[in-house]
Amino acid sequence: MILEISDLDVHYGRRRRRRRALSGASLTVSPGEIVGLIGETGSGKSTLARAVLGLVRASSGRIVVDGEDVTGYRDRQWRALRRRGVVQYVFQDPLRSLDPDLSIMDSLVEPLLVRGSSRADAAGRARGYLSRVRLDEELLERLPGELSGGQRQRVAVARALVTEPKLVILDEPVSALDSANRVQILEIVKDLRAAGVAFVFISHDLGSVAGLADRIAVLYQGELVEAGPARDVVTNPRHTYTRLLISSAPTLRTASAGRAERAALRSHLAA
Ligand SMILES: Nc1ncnc2c1ncn2[C@@H]1O[C@H](COP(=O)(O)OP(=O)(O)OP(=O)(O)O)[C@@H](O)[C@H]1O
Ligand SMILES: [Mg+2]
Repeated sequence: MILEISDLDVHYGRRRRRRRALSGASLTVSPGEIVGLIGETGSGKSTLARAVLGLVRASSGRIVVDGEDVTGYRDRQWRALRRRGVVQYVFQDPLRSLDPDLSIMDSLVEPLLVRGSSRADAAGRARGYLSRVRLDEELLERLPGELSGGQRQRVAVARALVTEPKLVILDEPVSALDSANRVQILEIVKDLRAAGVAFVFISHDLGSVAGLADRIAVLYQGELVEAGPARDVVTNPRHTYTRLLISSAPTLRTASAGRAERAALRSHLAA
């Protein structure tokens, strides 16, 4: 197992402003597996990702990364874990994954230089990963602000890959992209899975991951209400919220329900 999360609770805020963002969440990811993590806005998807990287603390539960129990880690240990790069997180906003003042080349080599690579070796690897995400080398001297959104997203993915992670968490990697760029990102993820990299692919849209993910986990109001093989979740959803997601996804038309059924599912959820 590359990732094991058990019974994870995460809170934000203190005292009277303390609110629970994740409640009893359990999830596992095997090597080379793509897990789709689905849920509406505010359901806790990014919170789960942040918890795995130590960017927010769990109030209870357990997180095991690549066989190492990281739950009680101190700041210094979390930083060391992130620097090792076994798990990489590509932020929802690709601008956050990239330093605006660093050229694409510098962004790509930086994680390698801090791990002791020579400049020449790091530059060679950076070029290799740039071509793996199907970008042209002429982009290397530009700044992030001089790229299109789709190019930036792919640079962020390339930067996550240079440390040869076993697991990459992609937070809404395709939501902001047009369909051509979206298809390219999905193809890149499939290629990398074939090379043994595992992914958590976060999306609010079940339709965009149904054909890609091996397993799908559904978050609803901070709780994982459903998890299973992608096909089972799509053809035989157990939770009302999952049924609503399926009936609302235009690409899952065959399983799609009419407006009346969606209204019924919504009122059932609200009850
Ligand atoms: N830094 C923070 N401080 C306080 N509350 C937060 C913080 N970050 C997130 N939250 C709250 O925690 C809940 C879960 O947020 P999270 O960002 O995990 O949702 P999400 O599923 O990623 O949503 P989206 O699809 O919009 O990205 C939300 O209610 C959000 O308002
Ligand atoms: Mg989010």
